[in-house]
Amino acid sequence: MQASGETVRIGDDGGAPKAVPAALLAWYDANARRLPWRALPGEPAPDPYRVWLSEVMLQQTTVAAVRSYYAKFLELWPTVEALAAAADADVMAAWAGLGYYARARNLLACAREVARLGGFPRTEEGLRELPGLGAYTAAAVAAIAFGQRAVVVDANVERVVSRLFAISEPLPGGRTAIRAATDTITPERRAGDFAQGLMDLGSSICTVRSPRCLLCPLSGGCAARAAGTAEAYPVKAPKKAKPTRTGTAFWIERDGAVLLVQREGKGMLGGMRALPDDGWSARIDGHRTPPVAGEWRAGGVVRHGFTHFDLELQLMLCESADCASLPLGEFWPAERIEAAGLPTVFAKAARLALAHR
Ligand code: ADE
Repeated sequence: MQASGETVRIGDDGGAPKAVPAALLAWYDANARRLPWRALPGEPAPDPYRVWLSEVMLQQTTVAAVRSYYAKFLELWPTVEALAAAADADVMAAWAGLGYYARARNLLACAREVARLGGFPRTEEGLRELPGLGAYTAAAVAAIAFGQRAVVVDANVERVVSRLFAISEPLPGGRTAIRAATDTITPERRAGDFAQGLMDLGSSICTVRSPRCLLCPLSGGCAARAAGTAEAYPVKAPKKAKPTRTGTAFWIERDGAVLLVQREGKGMLGGMRALPDDGWSARIDGHRTPPVAGEWRAGGVVRHGFTHFDLELQLMLCESADCASLPLGEFWPAERIEAAGLPTVFAKAARLALAHR
C-alpha cells in the first residue's frame, strides 16, 4: 500500500476511535522508518527469523544499539538453523555488550526448538509455546512476519495509547488497560504495520518530552492532547531508589594473558565469559578475599548500573598468582581482551586493568 501524500487526521471527521487505524496506517505508509529488519509498506512480509531476532534484540534496547548486533548475528548465523547449530559460548560472546543476557540464552533455546519443529509456528498461541518467547515477542512476530491480527504493546505504544485514551492508572498496573485500549484500535488487516506505525509515531512525534502534537495524525482524537496533559502520560508509579552493591573482580595475569572464567548457568550474566569475582551478584555485599594466594594490589573501582541495583566493583590485580590453585578458566591474551565477549561491567574492569600495565 502506498502513501496517498495526504495526512488523514482523526478528529477531522469527528474523532471516532475507528478512524485511528486508517489515519495511522496512512501516516505509516508515508513515514515508515527504513530499518534493516523491516519490509516497507506494500512489500512482502520479512523472514520470520529476522523479525524474531530483531524483536528479541529490541526489548529494553534502542534501535541505534541493536543495528550492529543485528548485522553481526545475520552474518554469523543467516538462518535459524545456523543459529541453532551454534556453540553456546559463541552466541553469548556475540551478544556481549547488548545486556539482559537471559535474552541470549533464551534465543538459543528457542532457535533450537524452531529448528527441531522445521520452522516458526505461524500463530501467536503457537509462538507463545516456544521456550523463552514472551507475550510481546509472540504478538510482534505473529503480526509482523505472519500478518496475523495481534495486539503488540511496547514502551512506545504504551506512551501513544495512554495519551490517546488518557489512561491515568499508573504503570505497571495500568498496562492491562493500555493493552485493552490497544486491542480496540488494532485493525484486522495490517496489524504488523499498525504496530510498527505506533512505534514510529512514539519514537518520532509522540515523544516522552515535548511531543510534536501539531504533526501527529492522531492528535484530533487524542484525549491527553485535548486536556493539554500529553507529557503526563504514561503515568508511572514512583520508582524505588536503586540500592548499591559492592563487589570485587580479580585480574590474574600470567605471561601477558589474563584468567577468564565462564559464569554459572542461569544466574546474572550466566554463561558469559568474565573475570573471576567474589560472588557480588548473589549477595548484597561482596568480600575482598582473592581466590588464590599472590601479591595483590588494588586497581580502582568500576561503576555499572544494572536494572535493579548499581554496582561498585573493586578491581584487584595480581601477576604472581599461585598457579596450582587457580579457579577453572582459560588464559586469554590481554591485548585481545576486547574480542573475549565480556559483558560491559567486566569490559570496563578490563580496560581499567590494562590502563595499569
Ligand atoms: N521496537 C521494537 N520492535 C520494533 C520494530 N519492529 N520497529 C521499530 N522499533 C521497534
